[in-house]
Formats: sequence, C-alpha cells, structure tokens
Amino acid sequence: MRQWNYLQASFPPDDLDEASGILWSLGTNGIEEDSLRSDRLQIKAYFDPLQDLQALCHDFKAQCRSAGISLFRCTARIQTERDWFRKWRQQLEPFSIGRRFRIVAIERAAHPDASVRAKHNRAAGQSRIPIFIEPGMAFGTGTHETTQLCLEALERHVKPGTTCLDIGTGSGILAIAAAKLGARRVVACDTDPIAIEIAVQNGAENGCAAQVEWILGDIDKTPALRPECLVANLAVELIEQEFSKFALRLKNGATMILSGLLTRQAGRIERLGRRSRLRLVRRATKGEWTCLLYVRPKPGRLSP
Ligand SMILES: C[S@@+](CC[C@H](N)C(=O)[O-])C[C@H]1O[C@@H](n2cnc3c(N)ncnc32)[C@H](O)[C@@H]1O
Repeated sequence: MRQWNYLQASFPPDDLDEASGILWSLGTNGIEEDSLRSDRLQIKAYFDPLQDLQALCHDFKAQCRSAGISLFRCTARIQTERDWFRKWRQQLEPFSIGRRFRIVAIERAAHPDASVRAKHNRAAGQSRIPIFIEPGMAFGTGTHETTQLCLEALERHVKPGTTCLDIGTGSGILAIAAAKLGARRVVACDTDPIAIEIAVQNGAENGCAAQVEWILGDIDKTPALRPECLVANLAVELIEQEFSKFALRLKNGATMILSGLLTRQAGRIERLGRRSRLRLVRRATKGEWTCLLYVRPKPGRLSP
C-alpha cells in the first residue's frame, strides 16, 4: 500500500518563501500549496516514509519561531492509498461539469445491482457526455477546479475531427473528454507509469481506445503531432519550464489551455506569454485557480 508522509502547516502567505526554505533544509521532497483562506496559507510538505515526522514537526516549529514566522498550525500526517480510495468512493455521486460533461465513477456505473446501474446511467445520460472514471492513484477525478477549468475550455475549443495533445494526463480524464467531443486523434502523456496504466484502463472503459494514444513520458516522448488543441494541467514551475516547447508544438490557429495555476501565480505565465508569439484570449477562474487560454495566430494575423 502506498503511503504519503507530510507536514501540514499554515502561516501568513508572506512567510511562504522563508517557511519553504526551512522545509527544504529539513529535507522535504516537495511542497504543495493546499489552500488560501484570508490571511492563512496552508501547505503540505512531503517527506520520505522513513523520516521521523514528529521530530521534523518539532524542528520546523522551532525554526519558524527563530525566524519570526507566525505559524498557526503544524501537524504530522500520514495518508494511505486506502484512505484516498475510500474518500473517492464515498463522496462520488455522478456530477456535471460545464455544459456538456457528466462524470461517473466506474464503480457506480458497474454496480452489481441493475437498478442502481440504471439510475447512474440515466444520471450520466441527461443529454450530457458521460465520462467514466476510476482514478486509482492518479490525479483527475473531475472534482478539482483545475480539471474542471480544462474541461470547460475543451468543450468550447475541441471541434470534431481535430487533434489534441494532453500533457500530464493523470487519470486520462481530459484526453477522454477530447475524444468524446469528436477529436480525431488525441495523444496523452504522463511521466508517472501508474497514471498511464490507469488512463489506458479508463480510455478503454470509455470506448476511446482507437482515438487516444497513451505515452509514458513528457512532451519530448510524444509523436511529432502539431495539435489544434494542447491542454496541460501541471504545476506552475513545469508550465514555466515547458511553455516555449508547448508553444512551438501548436499548429497555426491552435489553442493552448494551461491550468494548475493559483491565481496569484498566473502572472508568471502571462509574462512568458507576452514574450511569445501567442495571444492570450481568455483567463478563467474557479476558486483560487486560474486557467489561461492562448491561441497561436495564423500567419498574417500576428497580434500587435
Ligand atoms: C495535476 S495532474 C493533472 C491530471 C489531469 N490531466 C487533470 O487535469 O485532472 C498532473 C499530472 O502531470 C503529470 N506530470 C508531471 N510532470 C509531467 C511532465 N513533465 N510531463 C508530463 N506529465 C507530467 C503527473 O504525473 C500528474 O499525473
């Protein structure tokens, strides 16, 4: 069973840099900004399972005190795969996203009781496009705002017969959505082998096996497709790093959907965008998240 060991801490947003410095010096493998409520930023800092979390928590508190950081809370937490599965299965009734999609957990769609199955299939129907998902260990249940922003952008921009590239496919949810909107060819990649395994299964459950090609690796591992739509729901650092590579891949007139950005981080990407040939055509927000939509102008239609 997989296990995540992390410290969950909250402090004023202005102390983020200093608090992160302390966590890196304590050996964190990565820091995730979890939520921002008024004056409190909550983060999760992940550590190797063999490290003593309680001792780390104690050290972090002491170093925050010396640095003058007003730590509101710091707790040591261990989350197991089983907890995560249980949460997903308990919470998930079929739900709608945007104007077109309805997300149904595969377990519910395949329920042994025919009347329950019929109920969920009816719920999925509702003249919406059903996407059947079992996320397993991969990100992409459809419950996260960053995924929802991508789905809403896809339903506006994927036209039947087009080609799409999904970078960081996770459960495969966005690639499946693009295929179900009529994309002729979708290439989806992820650097996590478990995600690809799950995405392949979800693709098959949704009848998309013929349209979607699943690739283990980053954009460099994908075939030299120049898509009409590229979608990437990734951490801001990765988007910064890969922005020009994504932009170069686009066909003229193509759309690029970038999600995974906290609203206060979006300016970092917009600055890169201004130095590129791309045109920012939409900025959509949900909760504390922002999704940027760029278009690569057709020749002769360069933005001023
Ligand atoms: C936030 S999840 C997005 C999942 C899904 N596309 C969604 O929107 O719900 C990001 C995914 O990107 C993958 N990833 C991280 N770095 C990557 C990279 N350089 N290239 C491709 N995938 C990457 C992660 O393994 C993870 O599955």
